[in-house]
Amino acid sequence: MLIAQITDVHIGFDVGNPTEFNRVRLDQVLATLASGPNMPDLLLATGDIADNGALSSYQIFAEAIAGTPFPILPCVGNHDRRVNFHAVFPELTDQNGFVQYVHDCGPFRLIVIDTLDEGRHGGAFCKARALWLRAQLAEAPNKPTWIVMHHPPFDSGLEWMTTDAAEPWVARFIDAISDAPGLRGIFCGHLHRALVTPWRGLTVAVCASSAPQVALDLRPIDADQPDDRAMIVAEDPGYALHHWNGEGLVSFFERASDAPVLASYDLGMQGLVRHLIDERPGHGHAAS
Ligand SMILES: [Fe+2]
Repeated sequence: MLIAQITDVHIGFDVGNPTEFNRVRLDQVLATLASGPNMPDLLLATGDIADNGALSSYQIFAEAIAGTPFPILPCVGNHDRRVNFHAVFPELTDQNGFVQYVHDCGPFRLIVIDTLDEGRHGGAFCKARALWLRAQLAEAPNKPTWIVMHHPPFDSGLEWMTTDAAEPWVARFIDAISDAPGLRGIFCGHLHRALVTPWRGLTVAVCASSAPQVALDLRPIDADQPDDRAMIVAEDPGYALHHWNGEGLVSFFERASDAPVLASYDLGMQGLVRHLIDERPGHGHAAS
């Protein structure tokens, strides 16, 4: 089982341009996934699919993914609008109208939750959403589970983008997951950079955006004093791959780019490959 993740696609940043930069960057990632060696079984899209929530942005996104050979599990971020998201993805909603649903992957579960509060950049998680999440976790409390959500629930250190750990929605989220022994980790977006951290016994992995990235600058920022620091940078489009190894999900943070190949698996490399495999237990000349 291989799960790919894209995030912060931001279609519609360049309104009305069918070949806008963010669409081209999305297509770059989708082409890499669909034609490269790591064909995923499914694709997570962790929010900010649209830049300004326009219906046309979701339609363009649906058109972009229509030809891909893997199913997609999208969620909403702070730039999304539920009414327009629902118009294109009508089936992905809980009983309260939030974009929340469960996807069973066999040996583990994914629970997609909605942290959108329309008009606000930061996250939200109301009582109704928390009750829904607690109920889903209680249905299979010991099964390995990952939560998929847009906003990271911890302070990243990227000050202008970060979540304030004291925000009420974080406390409500923590309470909702407090009795879930099978919960292993969280997959997020929002920060436009890849990072991973332990948090309350879980592993939280944040995927880099396919749209341009937030510059990595961990200095404090003064809202009263612009200092000309870089804020948005156009590194190659990011994505992640989460590989199920039978015990857990191993996360790789990748970029859709053409890196020069310095060695290929040919007769010259065969000896090394054979040696590496043979020294393992159960193979060739493994040591006892
Ligand atoms: Fe974003």
